Amino acid sequence: MSAQQLFAPIAADMQAVDAVIRQRLHSDVVLIRQVAEYIIHSGGKRLRPALVLFAAGAMGYRGTHHHELAAVVEFIHTATLLHDDVVDESELRRGNKTANALFGNAASVLVGDFLYSRAFQMMVSVNNMRVMDVLSDATNVIAEGEVLQLLNCHDADVEIDDYLRVIRYKTAKLFEAAARLGGILAGADETIETRLAAFGMHLGTAFQIIDDVLDYSADEAETGKHLGDDLAEGKPTLPLIHVMQHGTPEQAALVRGAIENGGRDDFAAVLAAIQSTKALDEARRYAREEADRAIDAISTLPPSIFKDALLQLSDFAVARNY
Ligand code: IPE
Ligand code: IPE
Ligand code: MG
Ligand code: MG
Repeated sequence: MSAQQLFAPIAADMQAVDAVIRQRLHSDVVLIRQVAEYIIHSGGKRLRPALVLFAAGAMGYRGTHHHELAAVVEFIHTATLLHDDVVDESELRRGNKTANALFGNAASVLVGDFLYSRAFQMMVSVNNMRVMDVLSDATNVIAEGEVLQLLNCHDADVEIDDYLRVIRYKTAKLFEAAARLGGILAGADETIETRLAAFGMHLGTAFQIIDDVLDYSADEAETGKHLGDDLAEGKPTLPLIHVMQHGTPEQAALVRGAIENGGRDDFAAVLAAIQSTKALDEARRYAREEADRAIDAISTLPPSIFKDALLQLSDFAVARNY
């Protein structure tokens, strides 16, 4: 199932979110509009805003604050992408040149800051201290995750737990916040809110593990991103950790050197080692376990089309090829 099919029950709400996004992108500074509109309208999957809407729907929310908060979450996500592509020196995103490739690093970083601070203006307008607590916390943890990852780059001694910490911080935390916000808006009790948060955290972890698998296996035309960006940055992701732990001494040494040196020269050889050790299957299995934990976390939610969509989203996170 595609993300678009998954969103059928919230199609009207997603349009409302899109209207909020368009309206809130406004700035009198032309370069801000150019860069922000370029990235926002370039066709992301919009999974995180959908997660806010599904979680709110599953708990019977009947207001309109979820549109604003879904847009906030997409703005925060977009700001992290603008910054991330500078840090990762990436050149392709959503099938187009990255903003940094087109407008330069400085414009990307500064417009990322604009989107972050606009997101904070929007969340204040919802006037709910719990919402601000969750979103300010998430934004802070994402930044910690990106910095932790920076420290892990070119370090071949990174272990699975270090890797998991990075992806929980940089990626899963925003999924966690999105799902939790749906519960908060709907006035869910603390137990349910915690379960929604756990759902988002496990979903986001599965999602990033698959993102790291796709960096070695995707069709670039489908992901709209270049293969091998992670190796070029010397990122010790799960597939590489698997080769170092389960490959021959030669394969382990090859991967160790590739992480330490970065660049793209070793990509073909590393890919061969990944294939011969079935590292991608192993990473996919790990992602499947996380998705199953996500599914478990919401088992007590009352049945609804929104709960069904959350369950399908867990499957999509693992089965996806874009
Ligand atoms: C990309 O996220 C960044 C990660 C956390 C892996 P998405 O794959 O959700 O990006 P878009 O918004 O759909 O382009
Ligand atoms: C996700 O990690 C980064 C953020 C959470 C911003 P990646 O660096 O793997 O994301 P992509 O692959 O560039 O989308
Ligand atoms: Mg990146
Ligand atoms: Mg990636």
